[in-house]
Amino acid sequence: MADVKRVCCIGAGYVGGPTCAIIASKCPDITVTVVDLSQARINEWNSDKLPIFEPGLDDLVKQCRGKNLFFSTEIEKGIKEADLIFISVNTPTKNYGIGKGRAADLKYIESAARKIAEVAVSSKIVVEKSTVPVKAAESIAHILQANHRRGVHYQVLSNPEFLAEGTAVKDLMYPDRVLIGGELSEEGNRAIMALSNIYQHWVPKDNIITMNTWSSELSKLTANAFLAQRISSINAISAVCEATGADVSEVAHAIGTDSRIGPKFLQASVGFGGSCFQKDVLNLVYLCECLNLPDVAVYWQTVIEMNEFQKRRFARRVIEALFNTVTNKRIAIFGFAFKKDTGDTRESPSIYICKYLMDEQAKLAIYDPKVDHEQMISDLTHPSISDNPTRVQELVTLTKDPYEAARSAHAIVICTEWDEFKDYDYQKIYDSMLKPAFIFDGRMILDHKQLQKIGYHVETIGKRLSDDVHTGKSTSVP
Ligand code: NAD
Ligand code: UDX
Repeated sequence: MADVKRVCCIGAGYVGGPTCAIIASKCPDITVTVVDLSQARINEWNSDKLPIFEPGLDDLVKQCRGKNLFFSTEIEKGIKEADLIFISVNTPTKNYGIGKGRAADLKYIESAARKIAEVAVSSKIVVEKSTVPVKAAESIAHILQANHRRGVHYQVLSNPEFLAEGTAVKDLMYPDRVLIGGELSEEGNRAIMALSNIYQHWVPKDNIITMNTWSSELSKLTANAFLAQRISSINAISAVCEATGADVSEVAHAIGTDSRIGPKFLQASVGFGGSCFQKDVLNLVYLCECLNLPDVAVYWQTVIEMNEFQKRRFARRVIEALFNTVTNKRIAIFGFAFKKDTGDTRESPSIYICKYLMDEQAKLAIYDPKVDHEQMISDLTHPSISDNPTRVQELVTLTKDPYEAARSAHAIVICTEWDEFKDYDYQKIYDSMLKPAFIFDGRMILDHKQLQKIGYHVETIGKRLSDDVHTGKSTSVP
């Protein structure tokens, strides 16, 4: 098995697509087929408009597609032909039954494993790339072994993915490390070597870390929990800054220069979003509860609670500054994606800010450079956000032009840190807004002094820019 010639990836999503594009481009000797249940998604991967936006991905796909990179719904064929199969399907938080709202839903993983067992006629290395609870690889192995055909052998590896959206191509091209967990046996080692050989086409050997399967699975959850915890920690401090006159950017800089802490992931914000952080922390919380470690579960749960607090706190600040009422006030929302350089809106803080403002009957004009309008409506009319879709349609206007969004608005709320937001003509925008004109910079990306000079009332995260005359709050240190 050491010489993998054909790779199949089950799941053509944010992870499967970019990962396989990189493997195909770096390993011309390997044929890579990405398969998915969704015909629509596969059609998009085979078209000029890929289903996901990632800087650098279009070129990469164009370069390999039809040569050694294929996208297909022929799942059985893909499995049959492959020496190595990545399982890269979604593992969302369960929204029903036992563990609802916390546990990872493993039904897609299981159905992929069962499909492999059903159709494979030769031995395979099965690689768990999806993020899963500890011991999921064991369940996959169990299903495969219980259903295997004579002469067909499986090795199951854990190979969690650490790419971040918006920088996926760069992250995959130059990963800090690649993690491979496998069985501590001769066959296990051979499978680890086979996967390692693929990565060694472009990743230095020293950056490929091998370990036991459970450590590998837990390392992924731990990495995301630590990253999310850093954001919640700096966001907690941002609240202290706003109450005291300290500046969270200065505090982040001060602590980030301590080499033990480091400067990354200390950007205070409206809260973290994305498909991974909340899901994976909840997954860890649930795991701890199942392991009868309630204190550990409570510890990690607070990371999520602080994130909820930050989103609510920011929305409340907008409402308070706008004289405690936003009813029927037009508010421009700049940014709907959960971070810049992606069109992904999963768990985007923007959705929740919009929800809180809609609850107060604000009229929202939303602009995002990459998110489709249908996606915005689908997110805002989700039952967890609104129980009245008609009301959402009445309150929300979707625009393709930020200047249009801000026209006649009382306020602009920056929810995503898109670079283009920094370059707008804010004088022109100010002239078109109602006065006093407010900007709430939830990402700390704008030139606040310049905006104040124009005449805006500016509010940001983790820093008090002006005396809060409207809310009557004191700026003095208690
Ligand atoms: P996604 O929802 O974008 O893609 C998953 C794809 O799997 C979907 O297109 C779905 O149709 C397909 N699928 C589901 N069951 C299938 C089956 N039985 N057969 C064939 N196709 C099937 O998900 P994603 O964002 O790519 O995430 C995949 C996994 O990777 C998750 O476990 C996630 O936690 C993890 N992860 C995601 C990221 C990220 O940035 N999105 C980063 C690291 C890890
Ligand atoms: C994350 C992990 O970084 C990645 O390793 C894992 O594989 C998937 O989950 P992703 O969610 O795509 O990646 O993006 P990330 O850059 O981590 O940002 C997540 C959220 O945190 C975004 O909403 C972002 O705006 C926010 N964030 C990030 C902050 O608020 N402050 C920061 O300092 C960094």
